[in-house]
Amino acid sequence: MYTGLLHLHSILRYVVLILVLLSILQAITAGNKPYTPANKKVNLFALISCHLQLVIGLVLYFMSPNVDFSKMSEPTYRYWNVEHISMMILSIALITVGYSKSKKAIEAKAKHKAIYVFYTLGIVIVLLAIFTMKDRNPWWNM
Ligand code: HEM
Repeated sequence: MYTGLLHLHSILRYVVLILVLLSILQAITAGNKPYTPANKKVNLFALISCHLQLVIGLVLYFMSPNVDFSKMSEPTYRYWNVEHISMMILSIALITVGYSKSKKAIEAKAKHKAIYVFYTLGIVIVLLAIFTMKDRNPWWNM
């Protein structure tokens, strides 16, 4: 169960990255164009993929042998104990705020702006969290 969830969580990162980047791209290039149902769908699927990642991450957090508070002095354990979870929850919160602001905004321009501002902040933190993974940094461990 742990291995299966870890694989799922690992693969889902690419879904999150692609959908969030797609949302940002369509919001940045929208200019004065309307906020279409297709725009909304991509933004919503990006949000759902993040929330799915949150749920799987929470389950993993209580199963993982790499989450161990008795080894806080070791960088790898500290990463999985506190750094990964805090950075990822912050990024998912930002993306959630962005989606809800875009929903509340009246004008199309304001809807697109809420998406590119908050989704960009969120994705930057996700990428930082991925590239600072202590034991499996994708820069040298892909
Ligand atoms: C957008 C959000 C997230 C992304 C992109 C993400 C990405 C990743 C990646 C790439 C891994 C490594 C998978 C592997 O070793 O193959 C991982 C592992 C893990 N993540 Fe996340 N994660 C996210 C959110 C979260 C959240 C919110 C939590 C906790 C509540 C969490 C908890 C964990 C745990 C416990 C592990 C496994 C550590 C281990 O046992 O090796 N993740 N995550």
